[in-house]
Amino acid sequence: MKHFISMEDITNEEIYQLLEMARMYREAEYKITKQTFVANLFFEPSTRTKTSFTVAERKLGLDILDFATETSSMQKGESLYDTVKTFEAVGAECLIIRHEDDEWSKALNKKINIPIINAGSGKKDHPTQSLLDLDTIYQEYGYFKGLKVVIAGDVKHSRVARSNAQMLSKLGAEVYLTAPDHFTETELGYPYIPIDEAIGICDVLMLLRIQHERHEAKSNSTLNYLEEFGLTKKREKSMKPRAIILHPGPVNRGVEIDTSLVECQRSRINKQIENGVYARMAILTKQLLEWKVINKTDIVKVKPRIVATKKQKAN
Ligand code: NCD
Repeated sequence: MKHFISMEDITNEEIYQLLEMARMYREAEYKITKQTFVANLFFEPSTRTKTSFTVAERKLGLDILDFATETSSMQKGESLYDTVKTFEAVGAECLIIRHEDDEWSKALNKKINIPIINAGSGKKDHPTQSLLDLDTIYQEYGYFKGLKVVIAGDVKHSRVARSNAQMLSKLGAEVYLTAPDHFTETELGYPYIPIDEAIGICDVLMLLRIQHERHEAKSNSTLNYLEEFGLTKKREKSMKPRAIILHPGPVNRGVEIDTSLVECQRSRINKQIENGVYARMAILTKQLLEWKVINKTDIVKVKPRIVATKKQKAN
């Protein structure tokens, strides 16, 4: 039994099983019939990850214990460990945690006896974002081997870059990085190439937000950023015909990407958000099954999802 902390610990086989489960949840409605309590413990801001976990949990019929740092006993000085232990003691059966510390999971790993899902750890890991990105790429291409994926921008401070680079290369994709000098991280071990070369060769362009909140010194790093390192309208025109654009959000419009391209034909940015719900349903189910919180027989098919036809959509 393991917590869902880092793509380092996840095998290719597990990824394909999760993608299959995400597909199953996209195509039909399932409920977990056994009452199960899960807690969303977000110690850092979040819009997409937190709401998509909430939707995933509600779709599965789980009972959510909500939490906000501002109104919790953390205001009285309670530590992360004691807060988490309290949720375990009160009866939570799975914990979703986001925290600014790169290594927060180390303090909890062996001491918490219910599954933990990492919803973001500092600059280090963001495995649930990675799964939804993999899902989006897989829906598009149906394979990973040999795909050229370029991760562009603030690589140094990005947990999205780390988790995706690790898993995509394990799955056989060719990972390239492109970043201004002050945002490069050489230890990662993937080749850096100039932005204009990167744009021309990629099948998937994964843009990153500039992570101001993780920079040690304030800088004017957004000055001329779009022209020098971002996806301008001119650069988009030199992408391969089938190449797609990803961004984990939130997007700095006009910085990483020209604002007119955020919803362009190649952009899968909103698709990523939609896929996040099903990817997280799959991860929740995997963890609850693996830790024997639920059995397979507790998952019951309710009905196929109703997909609107073109005609219905027009009405
Ligand atoms: C990312 C994160 O929080 O790491 N966002 C997300 O989860 N959708 C990326 C970011 O904040 O730039």
